[in-house]
Amino acid sequence: MIAIIGGNGMTQLACLEISHRQIIRTPYGEPSGPLTFGRINNHEIVFLARHGYGHTIPPHAVNYRANLWALQSLKPARVISVASVGGIRADFTPGTIAVPDQIIDYTHDRKFTYFDGTDKAVTHIDFTEPYCQITRERLLEAAKQANEKIIDGGIYAATQGPRLESAAEINRLERDGADMVGMTGMPEAALAKELGLCYATLAVVANYAAGRGTSAHAIRLEEVHTILEKAMVSVRNILEQLVELDGD
Ligand code: HPA
Repeated sequence: MIAIIGGNGMTQLACLEISHRQIIRTPYGEPSGPLTFGRINNHEIVFLARHGYGHTIPPHAVNYRANLWALQSLKPARVISVASVGGIRADFTPGTIAVPDQIIDYTHDRKFTYFDGTDKAVTHIDFTEPYCQITRERLLEAAKQANEKIIDGGIYAATQGPRLESAAEINRLERDGADMVGMTGMPEAALAKELGLCYATLAVVANYAAGRGTSAHAIRLEEVHTILEKAMVSVRNILEQLVELDGD
């Protein structure tokens, strides 16, 4: 079974035939909402809205540990995170979809590990490749099959939010090598790795990052909704192909 974490622009999955919802409690508290079980083209999947079904949980307040713990309890074959980002690199224009291969963490004050107790041996997970390569390749193949354009790779900068960045902050992220910026990539990717989940991200560019393109002087938030709505059609096409490729 594939698990999908939906972000901004994806509180529901239109192609999902819902069978039931389940509230799961975890040692880390409550996930963002009940897990939604259902089928895409007759393949079982589970869906979780990262910001809650009413989109009320801001990025810094998401209980990432509970979300991934709940999904892990179902032993999913893969976890696909759908996340909106601001585009920094010139070809990351609004509406672009990418499968990042690297991440830089600028977040703070979030619960970012399962290994913070004193009851277990000190554990350092390897994070050289933050995303599951096989899952990334599957997403790229699914996009190809769906005839959807996709960028293979890119560095995701995870910022704290909920405010957007200043133009100077984006310049700094670019100097650091970042291609896109979002607020939810961390600690989600690291927690997934700690749990041994096969996790990868479909990043959807919602806007030019601050100081870039039409965001030269301000990010026009009123345009983000329309861009995401359109891009989600492509995301759904990719996910439909992915479940076909992966089977059950
Ligand atoms: N910055 C940070 N996170 C985002 C952005 C952005 O410009 N767009 C969508 N998520």
